[in-house]
Parts: sequence; C-alpha cells; structure tokens
Amino acid sequence: MEPSDFLGKTIIVTGAASGVGKAIATRFMNGGGDVVVADIDLNHAKETAESLNGAGTSYAVQVDVRDEQSVKSMVEYTLKNCDSLDVLVNNAGIFQKSIPSIEQSLEEWTRVMDVHVQGTYLCSKIAAVPMLEQKQGAIVNISSNAGFAAFPYRTGYSTAKAAINMLTKVFAIEWASDGVRVNAIAPNFVEKDRTIDRALGEETVRTIGGGADLDSILARTPTHRLTSLGSISESVAFLASDKIPDVTGAILPVDGGWTAYGYY
Ligand SMILES: NC(=O)c1ccc[n+]([C@@H]2O[C@H](COP(=O)([O-])OP(=O)(O)OC[C@H]3O[C@@H](n4cnc5c(N)ncnc54)[C@H](O)[C@@H]3O)[C@@H](O)[C@H]2O)c1
Repeated sequence: MEPSDFLGKTIIVTGAASGVGKAIATRFMNGGGDVVVADIDLNHAKETAESLNGAGTSYAVQVDVRDEQSVKSMVEYTLKNCDSLDVLVNNAGIFQKSIPSIEQSLEEWTRVMDVHVQGTYLCSKIAAVPMLEQKQGAIVNISSNAGFAAFPYRTGYSTAKAAINMLTKVFAIEWASDGVRVNAIAPNFVEKDRTIDRALGEETVRTIGGGADLDSILARTPTHRLTSLGSISESVAFLASDKIPDVTGAILPVDGGWTAYGYY
C-alpha cells in the first residue's frame, strides 16, 4: 500500500527532471502530494512531471535557481496553482571536474558556487516567505559527504556543500519559532548508472596521490554499497514530515557510514 503522508501538501523539488530529484519527486507523488518539478531544463521537467502518478497533481516549471526573478516566478506559479507551499527540496546541482585548486579558474569556482550556494540561498529565502506567513513549512537541502570531509581537487563542490550545511543551520534557527524547519541530507556517491560511470572516471574521483574507482569507494563505505535513491527519497520525506516538529538544523548523513568511518 502506498503511504499517503503528503496528501494535501504542495512540494517543490528543484532539479527534479532527473536523477536524485526525480526520485524525490516520485516519493512525494506516491505520498499523495502535489509536486512541482522545477528544473532549468523545461522539456525534461515536463517529461518527468507527466511520468509521475499519484493522488495529487504534478506540475512542471522552468527555474534557474541562480536567478532571483526566476525563483520568485517558480514560487508565484506554485502559489497560484496550489493552495499552499509546504515543502521545498533544494536539490538542483552540478558537478565539477577534478582539478588542482591552483589551476581552477574563477569561472569554474563561480559556476559551482552559484548553483549550489546562491541557488539554495535564493530558493530558501523566497519560499520561506509564504511558509512563515502560514506558520508551517519544511525545507530539505541536498548536501553531500563532501560537505563534511574535504574532497581534494573539487574545491568548489566541497566548499559549496559545506556552505549548504551552514545555510541549513542559519535558516533553521531564524525560522524555528515560526514553524518552518530546515534540514539537510548528505549522501555518499549515489547509485544511479551515470554516477557509477562518473565514479569510475579517473577525472571525477581523484584522491591525494591516486584515484578512487568504484571498488575503492565501496571498500571505504562500511555498508559496501553506494547510496540508494530509495534511502535518499525516504530520508527527505522523513525530514519533510510534519510529524517531527522538533527536528530542525540537522544534517543527516545518508552515506552507509562513510562519514562515521575513521580509517581510509
Ligand atoms: N549523484 C551523486 O552521487 C550525489 C552525491 C551526493 C549529493 N548529490 C547531490 O544531489 C543533487 C542531485 O544530483 P544528481 O546526481 O541527481 O544530478 P543530475 O545532474 O542528475 O541532476 C541535477 C538536476 O539539476 C538541474 N539543474 C542544474 N542546474 C540548475 C539550475 N541552475 N537551476 C535549476 N536546475 C538546475 C539539472 O538540469 C538536472 O536535472 C545535487 O545537489 C548533487 O550535488 C549527488
């Protein structure tokens, strides 16, 4: 039996056209929610929204999370079409090539920081306005184990995820007394075909003095598994649930014990 834990709720998921975001949108749709699939790629967002089935309605909207006006339009569109805005999932993200920090261009740094940090900042503060007015809401950010532990040669990505962890805490404490909770999950490498390919690519996972392939990533992970889309979407649904009003400012590792592990 499908859970109906999000019946009557409206959920925006950014970057939901594909990958992790699509899995999260599917979970909320299965839970009976109205789901706004928000992505910079409108055609792909439409395809994904049409593929979702549930008691609620799915919508597709184009957003560039780096752009304030675009984010305002996404929230306005949601409030016009749905009764409220209950949950925002800041998932939109981009990856970066492994490159020594001294060789990283300012453009590459800015490109990564803008989508992750500016995007999470803008979407959160703009979506928080109606949530604070209605005195309830939940924001869930998609961070990474790279936000806890430094990933070499990915200066922008690691720093951006650490910044998302701090945005999570700052917003959480500012908005707690008005019923708006802000939490994050921090996955390890996610099990989806493209990421496994990326993980195997020498360029993507470069370590100090070597490189990590899929086998070494699995060996470094206590569960010996990549993070499943199911673990991610259930964790996001848990943090978004209004059954846990005291959980705010938390960053939940969803990483098979990767962060807890002390040895390499
Ligand atoms: N895949 C992993 O191994 C992994 C691990 C930890 C954390 N994460 C995080 O999960 C999130 C999703 O990753 P994914 O693997 O599904 O990536 P993905 O590339 O499959 O999907 C990202 C989505 O974000 C959209 N997007 C990119 N820039 C955007 C912008 N400016 N505005 C709006 N949408 C934009 C893309 O069009 C795409 O649909 C990211 O925040 C990523 O950092 C992923």
